[in-house]
Amino acid sequence: MRIFSGMRPTGKLHLGHLFGVLNNWIDLQNKGNDCFFCIADWHALTTEFQDTKSIEPNIREMLIDWLAAGLDPKKSTIFLQSQVKEHSELYLLLGMITPLGRLERNPTYKELKQEITDRDLSNFGFLGYPVLQAADILLYKGEAVPVGQDQLPHLELTREIVRRFNNVYGKTFPEPRALLTQSPKVNGVDGRKMSKSYGNAILLSDSEEQVRAKIREMVTDPKRARRQDPGDPDTCNLYPLHEILSTQKTIGDVRKGCTTAGIGCVDCKGLLLPSLLAPLKQIRERREEIASSPKTLDRVLEEGAERAHKIAAETMKEVRKAVKLHG
Ligand code: TRP
Ligand code: SF4
Repeated sequence: MRIFSGMRPTGKLHLGHLFGVLNNWIDLQNKGNDCFFCIADWHALTTEFQDTKSIEPNIREMLIDWLAAGLDPKKSTIFLQSQVKEHSELYLLLGMITPLGRLERNPTYKELKQEITDRDLSNFGFLGYPVLQAADILLYKGEAVPVGQDQLPHLELTREIVRRFNNVYGKTFPEPRALLTQSPKVNGVDGRKMSKSYGNAILLSDSEEQVRAKIREMVTDPKRARRQDPGDPDTCNLYPLHEILSTQKTIGDVRKGCTTAGIGCVDCKGLLLPSLLAPLKQIRERREEIASSPKTLDRVLEEGAERAHKIAAETMKEVRKAVKLHG
């Protein structure tokens, strides 16, 4: 199956990225799918256009995390969006058939515009964000798109654009479907959505000491004020990590111990730590190895762009013909 997905280069990744999407990508890759993973630097520009200096280091840090976590450039095509210019051409053409009102009603657009108040986001590029995302996916005729829940509105819009394109110009693109992870959602240390901007994230690059300290301060069931109060794993911020990382036996023990006040939150965190620290240690070690050879990173992107470009150029030939354009 042709898999396509991408991330904006936001720098160092956290556990939310790992369990929410990245592990899903690695799984799909290792099951032998034909995977394309795109670092969407033009997408970063839609909001960071005034201050672009962090984009480059953010690309680097994110790529290091991808590779350290297990994305493999021998199996997957890993590339930088701006190195494959066809993305911009298809974006332009898709823009012609995308109704303006549909973009203005996009829930993600409305939310972000309210959330981000330190910048003026009334630029054309930001409104067109999901059209560029549609172009990303369609250039490679992606059939399945592993993303987080928050991307579903964008996927829906991509499907609408496909239907319209195929209607107007003849069947060209498949309708991609979203692939969500089965993993429970992990929150940040303070119980809100894990996000670097909230300062509540556990990063893949954190040292063992940092991870221990963050788990120590992690908010648990807020109603469990004293050790002798029974807790409720289903309202606890830590429990999802057990569900993801611990053995069935430990998960059972934790649930029983928590609801009967047999164990305290400190014990519970102690039960989690080894199964969290081990995979992070592996990622950290690989991170160091990769970071020490910047040439490798350049080569990954170069080869990725070359492979991506081949497919993208073929698709654009077909698209230009469908639209009846020269070239
Ligand atoms: N919008 C996605 C995000 O914020 C990133 C992205 C860009 C993407 N292009 C894509 C995701 C294509 C899936 C497919 O994470
Ligand atoms: Fe959460 Fe564990 Fe404390 Fe229960 S015992 S509230 S599951 S940390």
